[in-house]
Amino acid sequence: MVSSPSEDPRAGPVAVVGAGVAGLITAYTLLRDGFTDVQVLTRDAHAGGVWAPERIYPGLYSNNVHGEYRLSPMKMAHRAKTGALHGRLSGEELSDYFQSFAHKFLDGNILYGREVRRVRRDASGEGWEVDVLSIGDGTTETRNYARIVLCTGGCSSPRIPHELSPKAADAAGFTGPVIHTAEFAERMQELLSSTRPVTFADENSADEPSVIVVGGGKSAHDMCASLANEGRKVTLVCHNLDYFLASTSPLPEFIRKSRFLSLLSPHIHLRTYLERFLHTTWLGALLVHFIWSRLIESAFQAAKIPKGSPLRNVASPFWSVRANDEGVPRSNGFHALALAGKIEVITPAHVVGFGQDGKSVVLEDGRRLAASAVVLATGYRSSWEDLFDERTLDEVGLSVQPANPQSSHHWDYASLSNPPPLHPDAKRWSSTVYRGIVPAKNIMKRNLAVNGTGISMNNGYTAEVVAHWISSYFLGDPMRLPESTEAALEATEREAAWLKQRHPQTPTALNPSYTAYLSFLSWPQYTDDLLEDMGLRVLRSGGSWLTWPFKVIDLDEIGDLKEERDARRAKLASVRA
Ligand SMILES: Cc1cc2nc3c(=O)[nH]c(=O)nc-3n(C[C@H](O)[C@H](O)[C@H](O)COP(=O)(O)OP(=O)(O)OC[C@H]3O[C@@H](n4cnc5c(N)ncnc54)[C@H](O)[C@@H]3O)c2cc1C
Ligand SMILES: NC(=O)c1ccc[n+]([C@@H]2O[C@H](COP(=O)([O-])OP(=O)(O)OC[C@H]3O[C@@H](n4cnc5c(N)ncnc54)[C@H](OP(=O)(O)O)[C@@H]3O)[C@@H](O)[C@H]2O)c1
Repeated sequence: MVSSPSEDPRAGPVAVVGAGVAGLITAYTLLRDGFTDVQVLTRDAHAGGVWAPERIYPGLYSNNVHGEYRLSPMKMAHRAKTGALHGRLSGEELSDYFQSFAHKFLDGNILYGREVRRVRRDASGEGWEVDVLSIGDGTTETRNYARIVLCTGGCSSPRIPHELSPKAADAAGFTGPVIHTAEFAERMQELLSSTRPVTFADENSADEPSVIVVGGGKSAHDMCASLANEGRKVTLVCHNLDYFLASTSPLPEFIRKSRFLSLLSPHIHLRTYLERFLHTTWLGALLVHFIWSRLIESAFQAAKIPKGSPLRNVASPFWSVRANDEGVPRSNGFHALALAGKIEVITPAHVVGFGQDGKSVVLEDGRRLAASAVVLATGYRSSWEDLFDERTLDEVGLSVQPANPQSSHHWDYASLSNPPPLHPDAKRWSSTVYRGIVPAKNIMKRNLAVNGTGISMNNGYTAEVVAHWISSYFLGDPMRLPESTEAALEATEREAAWLKQRHPQTPTALNPSYTAYLSFLSWPQYTDDLLEDMGLRVLRSGGSWLTWPFKVIDLDEIGDLKEERDARRAKLASVRA
């Protein structure tokens, strides 16, 4: 039995699905807020999600322009700024961090090896029935929960284009391995043993088939570098590459870890005078675009990428949400290896399928590339698709909705003039997840939320503030919230219109479990909105009118959010009494 909503919400069982950064901090926050029965369900054998040890591959490092990836309850070892990694954390270190977090705070609350197969409303319509597969013994049981938080991540369900799927490979008689990057750690040895090392200086290597990596994102960069460092011949084919920030020495913290970069990205509303100047005046907009062009040019120079190189075919640093943090470029990193001729980069280009000879892939322009294996670095689809039947997905409001062509929302920002064309899928679809946290259609029920849906430059900070927001929402705390489903739907229509204007090339609705809301560079403004919703202090990094853009944002500034929320709740209760 689950508690009815009229009872203390803390008493009902809560399922947190997923044990990545979002699931861990959500469960921790709910438990500290007094929810007594919190179960984290993960299909993995370990905590960490993307950073679970089974997923770590050689050459995986933290990749945040902000340079931080932690949660306030637990410090993370700081790396020296000198040395090979220049302060960046390796995949193993992040993995250890999240497992220690799980062990320290959530022992007994996490059920490993449990895959959620189906979520549906229970008979009362107020709670949830969840079918859970126990991966160890293959049995399935149905569990009941009063509330659910989906933290299933945006990078846990591979997107495999059907023309490049293992099935299509079979049909074409292609005998080499075809793997998605999500399987890379698990299948790297198979890939190495089915391809031959080459001597790049040897002219005969020109006839050697290549591992073809499809896609231009960070996974593609990493796979290419890992394979080239193992002496394999690699060819990358993509429309364009992620842009990146890089410098010959680590950027100072007052640039990288302050609000400075976020000020160069307009937000749905402009809270400060400086933001209004930068984004609504022609002079400010000129400055914004000039700084971005300088940042990207200095990254090319730090990575020694000459003019005319295909490596300069990158996504727009201002309009896109595809940024990488190269830090101080490494000699065994993607760009250096490509410049040394150890990775061939073909861009702009598109792979349309396997060749009928069973030994190649074919490009859109008819070119044929001899292939020994194919690595699909084609990104991810929504992890929510598999959890609900179509009717529930739609009724709950987690499915994509047709975009409103009559939407009248428009932001007259000078910095947003001359945008690239709207992606066809962004034209057709919108998502309706309020603030990227609660599906608008379900907002009045206070029994479902999601965390981890808004690509952010500081995942730890963002997921932690979202976790507090969710807990307040479940508890029924006084908050700034839409007062009805209709008001929530109106708000999400406005949010969707904003995201289409701000990031026209990102069809947010296609993988809403990752991109329902894009805070991205504007993550400090977004988290300020959430703090404001909870009636809490914003612009926490402090500073004077002159220094505030350069004050370092530290996780400790949100370390007492629970106490602040408790104090506000008590104060409002005493005023009412
Ligand atoms: C290789 C890689 C490296 C990345 N590196 C960075 C980085 O350096 N910086 C950055 O900002 N972002 C990075 N990202 C993006 C990344 O997705 C987020 O940083 C972050 O991991 C998201 O955390 P999350 O908790 O939302 O999801 P995840 O970490 O993906 O966790 C999802 C959890 O949900 C569970 N799950 C999913 N479906 C089910 C189900 N049906 N039943 C039970 N459990 C389920 C999984 O087992 C997992 O525990 C990276 C992504 C990848 C793929
Ligand atoms: N810490 C790290 O170092 C690290 C490592 C890996 C990943 N990550 C993060 O994880 C997230 C996912 O990264 P990702 O690289 O896996 O995915 P991604 O960023 O979504 O990139 C997917 C790539 O595949 C291309 N693509 C998609 N469908 C295609 C198709 N049918 N044919 C050809 N190309 C296709 C996309 O190009 P189009 O959009 O042009 O179609 C894009 O270039 C990102 O946020 C990334 O930063 C971080």
